[in-house]
Parts: sequence; structure tokens; C-alpha cells
Amino acid sequence: MKIAPFGIEQWMNEYETRCTYNLAETCVDSLTIAQLLELAGHDGGLLDEMLPMKLTYGSIEGTDRLRSAVAALYERQGTGNVLIAHGAIGANHLVHLTLVEPGDRVISVMPTYQQHYSIPESIGADVRILHLREQNAWLPDLDELAALADGGAKLVVINNPNNPTGSLMDRAFLEQVAAICDRAGAWLLCDEVYRGIDQADPGTTVSVADIYDRGISTGSMSKAFALAGLRLGWAVAPASLIRELTIHRDYNTISVGMVDDLLASIALEGAGAILDRSRALTRGNLAALSEWIDAQPRISWIKPRGGTTALLKHDLPLTSRDLCVQLLEETGVMLTPGSAMAMEGYLRIGYAPNPGVLAAGLPLLGDYLHGH
Ligand SMILES: Cc1ncc(COP(=O)(O)O)c(C=O)c1O
Repeated sequence: MKIAPFGIEQWMNEYETRCTYNLAETCVDSLTIAQLLELAGHDGGLLDEMLPMKLTYGSIEGTDRLRSAVAALYERQGTGNVLIAHGAIGANHLVHLTLVEPGDRVISVMPTYQQHYSIPESIGADVRILHLREQNAWLPDLDELAALADGGAKLVVINNPNNPTGSLMDRAFLEQVAAICDRAGAWLLCDEVYRGIDQADPGTTVSVADIYDRGISTGSMSKAFALAGLRLGWAVAPASLIRELTIHRDYNTISVGMVDDLLASIALEGAGAILDRSRALTRGNLAALSEWIDAQPRISWIKPRGGTTALLKHDLPLTSRDLCVQLLEETGVMLTPGSAMAMEGYLRIGYAPNPGVLAAGLPLLGDYLHGH
């Protein structure tokens, strides 16, 4: 099966270990195991719990403890609505493989995580792109969505909060998207890996799984929970679809690993404290980034309302890739070129690293922009 190369992943693989100030990262500054236990209020004794663990495949579909903790992130979901996967990347892959057949109409927003249009394309689906535009604050145009869905669609894919723009659809907006999907008879997949770190209180926006009976939410420990090293994600959907996904999952997952399951359970049971940390960090860092942008004549943006990334428009006479490579070589600062996500002319910045990294990287980026 032929598939387009994954632009972002290739860029990260090539340069991530060669930079000094990583402003390409999309995870909230990752936690150590010690920080995780402290935030989650775990009373120590983790090693005692782990040493006698016999490392079998563990609970194949994920422990009840883990699936209950995932379900608790939603308004009206139970363990039968949860499928545990290898990261959201694994969950997204399973959803596409399960639902999409050659010739099916699939509508995906762009820009977003490339999986959502390249996998359906590789399957031979009729993929229609719903372009997010700056003049709409990077939100989907609902009339355009309705026109694309006219005559029926198998799957509509959105991403909330959006990577890379940081745009955020609120409940009322999502309900309108769901109504369009309903009229088209479509499933609605919302990639919600950045859910829980909105800039405004309460900090979490509703999930499509809770507002639409064909709504599917994918999420993970990587971004808002700052635990990408666990490689653990999920899909939340109607139980009948979870059973379909499980048939495919049996071919590529078996289980996610007992240690990951245990640490993710501990983290999700302490979700409040972990998300509080992530919100404080993303809000403080975005305020710092915003202040810096105000003083940059060569950069413009739509300020993010959630997530960890922003899309910056620049006016340098360079391709985004050449700019990013030169910036990296001259300053050690790593951004992501818009070309890696079909957005030439833009740069993506990840603003959720340790605040010290942002504070050191932004002046260097400013000097670079000023000097070229
Ligand atoms: C929108 C989106 N979905 C999914 C993923 C994959 O995340 P995970 O680490 O959970 O596999 C990413 C990673 O960058 C992402 O940005």
C-alpha cells in the first residue's frame, strides 16, 4: 500500500536531536516519573508495586482501571466505549482502517495531523479537504463543510484544539458540525489530543463523543498530560464501533504494555493536578510568546485559544524549510516549516516547552528575523 511520506514526522526525525532550543515540540514539557507521582499524589511505593509484576502481555484490552480513568474524562462514556491504543497515532490509524473503504468520501480539515488525510488517500478514499483559513480565525467554514458533505460522506475529520493553528471550536460550534455530519450520515472523528489545555477557563471543551451519536474522540497521554513516553492513547466511541475497532486492533497491538498501563492509570487518576500544571505552563508561555510577537514586524499570527502550537506567517524571501534549516544552523532554535504540513509561508512554533527554553529561544529567533 503506497502512502505519502509523513512531513512532520520526517522533519522531527531529521532535526530533533540536533537542536539546542526545541520550539518544534508539541507536547507540554514532559514529566519525569517522579514529577508524575508527586502531582498524582501517589504515596510512593511504586517500585514495590512494580517489582513483583510479571511482565506478561497484561490485560489485552487495557485494564479496567485504565479504561475507567479514560472514560472519566468524558461526560457520558463507560469502559465499553474506550479502546486503548499505541498513542493517538495508533488510535487514529485504527479508526481510519476500520471505517474507510476505497471510494468513500472522507472530509478532513487542513492543516492538521497528516494521518487524517494521507491514510484515507492511501486507502483510495475520495478525500475532500476543508481548508482552514486565517480570515476565519482558522475555524472551518460551516457552509463549505455542508457543501463538501452534500450527497453523503463516510467520515468527517476535525481536530480540536487544532494542531498547528491553536484554533478552538466551542460546544455550540461543534454541535453545528455534528448536525452537518448527521444530515450527511457521516461519522465525526475529532482528534482531541490537545483537549484540556484551553487558554480560557474551565480549560476543557466538550468532546464530540459526548454530543454526537456517531462521534469519535481520539486522545492520549502525550500532549496535555505531558507523558508521551508512555506511548498510550485511546479512541472513545459508541460500543458497537469499539468492537469493530477491536477486530483491527487485534492485528497490530495485542496490548500496550503493563508498565504503560499502570503509569497512565496513576496519571489519569490525578488528571486534575496534571492538567492544572499544563494549563499554567501553556497560559504563561503563550502570554510570553504574545508579548514577543507584538514586537516582531516580520511575523503575524492568530493567537491560539488552546493546545500547544501557533502558526506564524513570515515575510522572509525564503521557503519555510530553508528558513528553518538556516535558523537551526545559525542559532540552534528549531521550529517546524509550514511546508511539512502543506502550509508554505508559515512556521509552526510549539510554545509549551519548559519556560526557560522559550525564554532563551525567542530572542535568538528575533535576532535571526531582524538580521535577514
Ligand atoms: C493532532 C495530533 N494527533 C495525534 C498525534 C500523535 O500523538 P501520540 O503521541 O498520542 O501518538 C499528534 C502528535 O503530534 C498530533 O499533533
